Amino acid sequence: MFYPDEIIQEVRAQNDIVDVAAAYVPLRNRGGRHWGLCPFHQENTPSFTVNGDTQFFHCFGCGAGGNVITFVMRIEHMDFVDALKLLADRVHFILPQPGESQAERAKHAEKAQAAEYNKAAARFYYEQLQASNAFASEAREYLKSRGVNQKIQALFGLGLSPPGWDGLLKHLTSSGTGETTPADLHKAGLLSMSHKEGNRYYDRFRERLMFPIIDPAKRVVGFGGRIMRETADEAKYLNSPETSLFNKSGLLYALNLARKTRAKELIIVEGYMDVIALFKAGFTNAVGVLGTALTTRHVQLLRRNGCETALLLLDSDDAGTAAALKSIPLLLEGGLRVKVLQVPDAKDPDEFLQKFGAQRLGSLLSDAKSHIAFQVGLAQKKYDMDKTEDRIRFTEEAAALLATISSEIETDAYVQETARASQIAPPAIFAEIHKQRGKINADGGQAPMRQLRLNLRRSSEDPGLREARKQLLCLALTHPPAARALASSGFLAPEEMGNEVLSQMLDMVYRNIFPAPADIVSRFETAEAQQQAAEVFIKPIAYSTTLEMEKSLNEMAVIIKRAYIDAQIESFGLKNDLNAVNSLVLSKKNLQSQYITLSNG
Ligand code: GTP
Ligand code: MN
Repeated sequence: MFYPDEIIQEVRAQNDIVDVAAAYVPLRNRGGRHWGLCPFHQENTPSFTVNGDTQFFHCFGCGAGGNVITFVMRIEHMDFVDALKLLADRVHFILPQPGESQAERAKHAEKAQAAEYNKAAARFYYEQLQASNAFASEAREYLKSRGVNQKIQALFGLGLSPPGWDGLLKHLTSSGTGETTPADLHKAGLLSMSHKEGNRYYDRFRERLMFPIIDPAKRVVGFGGRIMRETADEAKYLNSPETSLFNKSGLLYALNLARKTRAKELIIVEGYMDVIALFKAGFTNAVGVLGTALTTRHVQLLRRNGCETALLLLDSDDAGTAAALKSIPLLLEGGLRVKVLQVPDAKDPDEFLQKFGAQRLGSLLSDAKSHIAFQVGLAQKKYDMDKTEDRIRFTEEAAALLATISSEIETDAYVQETARASQIAPPAIFAEIHKQRGKINADGGQAPMRQLRLNLRRSSEDPGLREARKQLLCLALTHPPAARALASSGFLAPEEMGNEVLSQMLDMVYRNIFPAPADIVSRFETAEAQQQAAEVFIKPIAYSTTLEMEKSLNEMAVIIKRAYIDAQIESFGLKNDLNAVNSLVLSKKNLQSQYITLSNG
């Protein structure tokens, strides 16, 4: 985190959450709390509350919660620093220069500088496309032939890199302050260097249509450049090189535009031109990967920008299918819902729109299948449903896929579909699914997907454990005597709290750090982490005596410890380490003999 805690606390203290939230959500005062319709999920009766005393918001419907910074992060889809800046601006608080190390400061300065050069380059390319010369008008004709009109050109800031070797180089080094050197532009990814000719710099992009890539913070971070006449010996697209600013696996084309729709469903396509065609057809919630496979960083980026469902709209070739199959587990692990659509009778979404129009695509999109149906469909293609053997294999494969669905209703719907395709009766398919579910549970330690599902199930199965962890932290963070007793007992280690956020909170207890709950929350950077932290303080138990508090503290500590030991036993058991297992079992027995004593005061 770049800003010192005192600054964050100050900004938070000056921004009353009731005022801030009321600017977005009509609120009504009832019973000491302010109530309104939750902006984070669909509802008709208010379950969103804002509490002026604790400075927290909490939705009883969807569980969203946190402090004023969390609220702004979620509602504006901003990261922590941007939310802090917005709140500081709101009360005319001047944020100091962030406290960074020398190296960090240098890196940030370099990035900011590189973004400035890229912005200047984008302007230059944009002007080149509008220029009155033969090459520029050829480029404009080309765009027109592909259905890209002036408005879309302006929206995406499309440009043109001129022929020749130094158009951009000359423009950027001669204009302005004149302090810009070719070496700076090279670092920003705009120039290439020829080692043959005594390290001569030249324009990286030449004679290409230019697609500026703009990140959610509105910085121009790089470009994609497309040649207009495809040849065998030149790459169709050229991207900026990987620089301090440009990293393909953490960027999505047009996310700066798509995020503005605040859509919870984002369409993911493979190509620049696909994104542009979708926008032109009115689908403004589309983003593109930059010629790479989807990564976990992409998934985080999607989530940070409010995406809950990813609709993979991929090319209709085997590469598109393969890309979908690789992306699905990443998206699921990131907690997103996944739908998949491959357009029929066209190689990609752009071509589909050219051939069949927006309306047809719209109905396909609204009808897009879940990733499971997509995978079952693929399985079906491998088999010949006229052969008994094949029908059995297919049904087994489908059942394995359907076994991963948690909703019974959804399972039922797909079983009906599978039964129709395979002509195998639904009860037999259900039985197979049941068998497959058993398998998943048995070797749950293997694939990360399975592990994840198992963990989810476990955590939802054990609300008692979750509650114990929250209440123990709530008590320790608001009652210093309880914190001291817990710390000196050495009974629990931070990593035994089950997740990163709660571990860090216990660590605060041990390091004697007791800010106000709303400030503890600000120490976490992502909205999810802030929400987890805030949940700790939502429903504090009111103890009437110290003895009651002490008993409760011990009970909770034992529940937490026991769960931790159980998890250890399981993992050593999987590794067949019997010695470790035995000593853990022994330590579990000894739990009862330990007691944390709370002194008065
Ligand atoms: P059009 O051919 O103009 O319709 O573009 P497209 O976006 O449909 O291209 P295509 O489907 O061939 O490729 C999809 C994406 O892969 C592109 O948008 C690029 O991001 C990337 N890509 C394609 N060809 C190349 C290449 O030669 N080099 C690099 N680096 N990326 C490429
Ligand atoms: Mn295309």
